[in-house]
Amino acid sequence: MNKIIRELEERRERARLGGGQKRIDAQHGRGKLTARERIDLLLDEDSFEEYDMFVEHRCTDFDMNDPATKTPGDGVVTGWGTINGRKTFVYSQDFTVFGGSLSETHAAKICKIMDMAMKNGAPVIGLNDSGGARIQEGVASLGGYADVFQKNVLASGVVPQISVIMGPCAGGAVYSPAMTDFIFMVKDTSYMFVTGPDVVKTVTQETVTQEELGGAVTHTSKSSVADNAYDNDVEALEQTRRMFDFLPLSNREEVPQRPTEDPIDRLEGSLDTIIPSNPNKPYDMMEIIHKVVDEADFFEIQPSFAKNIITGFGRVGGKSVGFVANQPMVLAGVLDIDSSRKAARFVRFCDAFNIPIVTLVDVPGFLPGTAQEHNGIIKHGAKLLFAYGEATVPKITVITRKAYGGAYDVMASKHLRGDMNYAWPSAEIAVMGAKGAVEIIFRSQIGDAEAIAEKTKEYEDRFANPFVASARGYIDDVIKPHSTRRRIARALQLLEDKELENPWKKHDNIPL
Ligand code: HXC
Repeated sequence: MNKIIRELEERRERARLGGGQKRIDAQHGRGKLTARERIDLLLDEDSFEEYDMFVEHRCTDFDMNDPATKTPGDGVVTGWGTINGRKTFVYSQDFTVFGGSLSETHAAKICKIMDMAMKNGAPVIGLNDSGGARIQEGVASLGGYADVFQKNVLASGVVPQISVIMGPCAGGAVYSPAMTDFIFMVKDTSYMFVTGPDVVKTVTQETVTQEELGGAVTHTSKSSVADNAYDNDVEALEQTRRMFDFLPLSNREEVPQRPTEDPIDRLEGSLDTIIPSNPNKPYDMMEIIHKVVDEADFFEIQPSFAKNIITGFGRVGGKSVGFVANQPMVLAGVLDIDSSRKAARFVRFCDAFNIPIVTLVDVPGFLPGTAQEHNGIIKHGAKLLFAYGEATVPKITVITRKAYGGAYDVMASKHLRGDMNYAWPSAEIAVMGAKGAVEIIFRSQIGDAEAIAEKTKEYEDRFANPFVASARGYIDDVIKPHSTRRRIARALQLLEDKELENPWKKHDNIPL
C-alpha cells in the first residue's frame, strides 16, 4: 500500500512539473504564470480538485510513440473549484507541454469538464495559452477542436462561459473563445488571430505585428472580439474572480445575493443637478451608475469599445443587475452599429442568465451617414431592438434626458415590455430635437427667423418634457433624480417574482 501511495505521489509530482523546469522558467521569463499558478490565483485556496491528471496522448506518428513525449495531463489542467465559495469548472492550458497545443486527449479533457459543468450547473472558465492544433496529430486534433466547439454551442445560455486569453490563440482555435460569453485578454503576452502576421504579409502584403493584428488592445478597442484587457496574468485573474461574483452559476439559478451595508433607500442629492441646463452639454452617465449601485462597485464590460454606450454589472440591494446606459460624453450617446451590437449582446447575456436589466437613457437617436447605412445600421440596430424585445427578465428604464426617435423605442421602452419605465423631470421624449423637427414641418417658413423661433419654442414646450409620454402611460412615473436608487431597488423587489414567457419556438431568428 505504501509503495503504491508513494508511486501516486511521484506520478502527481511529475504531472505537476508539466513540460519541465526549463520550460517553466521560460514561461516565467515571458512574464507569464504557469497553468497551475493561474488556477491557484483564480480559485479559492485549496479548493481545486483536478481530474485526468494522468491522461496521456495516444499519437504514434512523428516519433510520438517515444514514451519521453508523454507528459501526464497532456498540456491542459482541468477540474473544478470555488470562487468566493461558489463552484466553477476550469481548464488551464499548459504552454510548457507541446506549447499547450490541443491533442485529441487534451480536447477530451476539456469536453469532460464542460459536460460536468452543464450537468451540475456551474460556469466554465478557460485559461487559454496554446499553439493551436497539435501538429503531430493532424485531423485527430481538428476533431478535438470541433468537439470543444460543439460543447461551447450547447453550453451557451446554460452555464456562463468565460475565456481568458493568456498566450497564443490562433487559427481555428480562436473559435472556442469566440463562442463563449466573455473574453478577457492580457496585454502584450496574448493574441488572437485567424491567420498570423506571416500569412497576412503573403496574402495582403500588409506588414503588421502580432500585437497590432490581434493583441489585447486591438481586440478590446477595434474589433470588439474581446471584452476587457488587463496588464498581466494576476490582474486578469483577479478581475475574472470579480466578474464571476456577479453571475449566477447557471440558467437555472437566480442571481447571487451578497450582503451590503449600502442602504437601498440611499438618496443622492447630487443627481438633482447633474443634468446641465443646456441640453447640448454632456454629463457623465457613469456618475449616475456609480451613485445608483451598491458601494459604487460597477464592473464594466467592453469599456474601450463603443464608448457611447456603457454596459456592465452592478448590484442593487446586494443582487446583480445588468446596466445598459447611453453615454452623453461620447458622440452625444448616439446609437450606432458598434454600440447597438455591444449592448445587444450584453442584454441577451443578462436575459439568458436571469439578470435584471436597468437601462439609463439619454439618446439623441441613431447616427446618420453613409458609413452607418452602408455597413448595415438597420440590421445592427435591430439586434438591440430584438434583444430588448425578447428579454423576459425584469426591465427597468430611466430616461434622464433625451429619448428621441426610434432610439426611444429601442432603449427598453414600455412598448418592448419594459416593466417599470421612469423618467426624470429633465426627460425629453420626442420624434427628434425641436430644431430639426421645426425645420422639417415648417420648411416653408425657414427664412422667417421669428416664426421658426416661435415654432421651436412651441415644439419644445410640447415635447421637451416627460409629461406627454406619461399622459399615455408610456412612462409609469416621473421621479426625482435623487430617489433613483430607491425607486430602482423597489422596482427590483417587486419584480423578483415576475413571470413572463415568450411563445414556444425552436429558436428565434435575431438579425445577425
Ligand atoms: C505541437 C507545438 C505546437 C503545435 C508549439 N509547439 N505549437 N507542438 N503542435 N501546434 C511546441 C514547439 O514545438 C515547442 O516545443 C513548444 O511548443 C514551444 O513552442 P515555441 O515555438 O518554442 O514557442 P514560441 O517561440 O513562444 O512560439 C509559440 C508559437 C509557435 C507562436 C505558438 O510555437 C507556433 O507558431 N506554433 C505553431 C502554431 C500553429 O501553426 N498551430 C496550428 C494552427 S492551426 P519544444 O519541445 O521545443 O518546447 C490550428 C487549427 C485549429 O490550430 C483548427 C480548429 C478548427
